[in-house]
Amino acid sequence: MGLNDNQETSAPQHVCIIMDGNGRWARKRLMPRAMGHRKGVEITRKAVEFFVGSGVKHLTLFAFSSENWNRPKEEVSTLMDLFMHSLEKYSVELNEKGIRIRFIGDRNAFSSDLQDQIAATEALTADNDLMTLNIAANYGGQWDILNALKTIAGKLQRNEINAEQIDTVEFESGLSLAGTPHPDLFIRTGGEQRISNFLLWQIAYAELYFTDILWPDFNQDEMQKALDVYSQRQRRYGKTGDQIDK
Ligand code: IPE
Ligand code: IPE
Ligand code: MG
Repeated sequence: MGLNDNQETSAPQHVCIIMDGNGRWARKRLMPRAMGHRKGVEITRKAVEFFVGSGVKHLTLFAFSSENWNRPKEEVSTLMDLFMHSLEKYSVELNEKGIRIRFIGDRNAFSSDLQDQIAATEALTADNDLMTLNIAANYGGQWDILNALKTIAGKLQRNEINAEQIDTVEFESGLSLAGTPHPDLFIRTGGEQRISNFLLWQIAYAELYFTDILWPDFNQDEMQKALDVYSQRQRRYGKTGDQIDK
């Protein structure tokens, strides 16, 4: 039986997205980059709604990378303000929808107000189970792996484990998404075909989907297109196609 005969890969459990292209979207319209970020937040809200409706149980969004601090001070501060306002504006609504919100990344670098808002949002939504929305903020994949390594090193030092006991399960328990299944589908908008230090360990077997559509233009049809492409992929995990078709 061929790949497209009747067998479709079932809907992804976990989708992760690099939401890229806000700046270029604004530039095309001769608007300041901040306008692109604002429009980007609206699309983010729609994306959450879309993926919840599609049965996705975990959605991980790259909101701010550990490298984004290198942007002009003004843009960083715009992004922080927007971050704060978006949480104030949407956390109640997302909570009512049954969405759990968690943050991954080093939050210590944020203002204390923002850290408080992050903690409040996590606490408010902690018991929800319709979908978990992971927001990667001041996140870097290498930072995440180093943290897991430090956790392991601590356990070794305290003689809680020995080196032979270090396996993928043990290692992953120190990652920020411990306990969450790995992403099935990785989406990057905005035309670049790179990972930009997003989830590194966790995308080992993710299906990669790159689109030139800029994030503020990533509408429902485009979201559906990503799911449709995903459903046509054959996930082989090292096996042959014939083994999977059986
Ligand atoms: C993504 O859009 C948003 C963040 C990185 C916060 P960009 O701001 O990177 O948009 P481009 O890539 O400059 O178009
Ligand atoms: C990745 O986008 C980070 C986020 C979307 C938050 P960037 O625009 O920062 O990535 P690079 O710099 O083009 O690799
Ligand atoms: Mg970019």
